[in-house]
Amino acid sequence: MSIMFPLAIILLLLLFVLGGVSYTHLENVFGIFIPYLALSIFLMGFIYRILSWAKSPVPFRITTVCGQEKSLDWIKANRLESPFNTLDVLKRMALEVLLFRSLFRNTTTELKEGPTLIHWSAKWLWLAGLTFHWSFFIILTRHLRFFTEPVPFAVDLIGRLDNLFEIGVPALYLTDALIVIALTHLFLRRVLIPRIRYISLPADYFPLFLLLSIIGSGMLMRHIYKVDLIKVKELVLSLVSFRPVMVAEGIGTIFYVHLFFVCLLIAYFPFSKLMHLCGVFLSPTRNLANNNRAKRHINPWNYPVKVHTYAEYEDEFREKMKTAEIPVDKE
Ligand code: HEM
Repeated sequence: MSIMFPLAIILLLLLFVLGGVSYTHLENVFGIFIPYLALSIFLMGFIYRILSWAKSPVPFRITTVCGQEKSLDWIKANRLESPFNTLDVLKRMALEVLLFRSLFRNTTTELKEGPTLIHWSAKWLWLAGLTFHWSFFIILTRHLRFFTEPVPFAVDLIGRLDNLFEIGVPALYLTDALIVIALTHLFLRRVLIPRIRYISLPADYFPLFLLLSIIGSGMLMRHIYKVDLIKVKELVLSLVSFRPVMVAEGIGTIFYVHLFFVCLLIAYFPFSKLMHLCGVFLSPTRNLANNNRAKRHINPWNYPVKVHTYAEYEDEFREKMKTAEIPVDKE
C-alpha cells in the first residue's frame, strides 16, 4: 500500500504534464511559471527549516564519539573518533560527507539456527548510497553546461571523463548507468527485506520514484526522444538571468516532463527527508568538538533555573499517588 500511493502520484503528475504541454500548449506555464514557483517554495521552505533548527538550544557538547577523548598526555586519544578541536571536527566531517564513513561501519545481526547470533559487516547500503550521491552530484555538475556560456573547462572535462568508454551514440554517461543501478538497489532493499519494508513509508518511496522519473526522462531525452538543445539552453539562460523569454515551440514535451519532475523535487526538498543534506552539517552530535574534560561548558541560561522539587511534585500529585498506591513521603 505504501508503495502504490507515491507511484500513483508520479503517474498522475506525468499525465498532468503530458496533457498540459501536448494538448493545451502550456509551455510557458511549465517552462517559466512552475520553475519560478518551485524555486520560491524551495527558498522559503529551506530558510524556515534552517531557522527552526538554528533556534534549537544546544547548551552542551553532545558529540557522538566512539574513541578515547583527549585528556592526559600519556593516554592515547583518538582525534578522529573523538574530535578535540575544530580541525579534528572538519576532518571527521569531511570523511563523513565525502565517503559516508559511519555507514561504512554498518553491521547487521541475525539469529541463525542453533540458536546462534551472528553479526557481519554490511557494505551494500554504503556502496549504493555513495554511488547514488556521487553520480547525482556529477550529473548536476555536467548540467551546468546548460546554465553557462561559455561552458567552464571543468564542466566540459567532467562530461568527457564521464563519457570515457563512449558506449553507443550518443554515448551513455557512466554516471547515468551507475545512478540507475544504485537507485534500483535502494528501492529493492526496501521492498525485498521484510524489516525494512515494515518501516518504509510513502515519504521513503516517493523521493526514490521522483529521482528515477527525473533520471528516466533525462535519459529518454538524450537517447530516444531527442530535444532541441539550443532552444533548451536559450530558455535556461533566460530563466537564470531573470529575464524569461516566451518559450519557443518545438523543444519537445519530454523536456517539460523532465523539468516538471525537477521542479517537484526542488519544491518538495525542504519538507522532506532530503533535508539531511543540510542536517548533517547542522547536527550537534557531529559538528562540535568533544572537549568536555579540557573546558567547562556552562549552560548559558542556567540561572535563575526554575526547579520543580520532589516535595512540590508530591504536593501536586499526592492524592493521585495515593489512589494508585504509590508510597508518599508526607501524608
Ligand atoms: C535534479 C536535477 C536533475 C537531474 C538529476 C537530471 C538528470 C538528468 C539525466 C540523468 C539526464 C540524462 C543525460 C545526462 O546525464 O546528461 C538528463 C538529461 C537532460 N537534462 Fe536533466 N537533470 C536535472 C535537472 C535538469 C534541469 C534543471 C534541466 C534544464 C532546465 C535539465 C535539462 C536536461 C536536458 C536538456 C537533458 C538532455 C541532455 C542531452 O540530450 O544530452 N535537467 N538529466
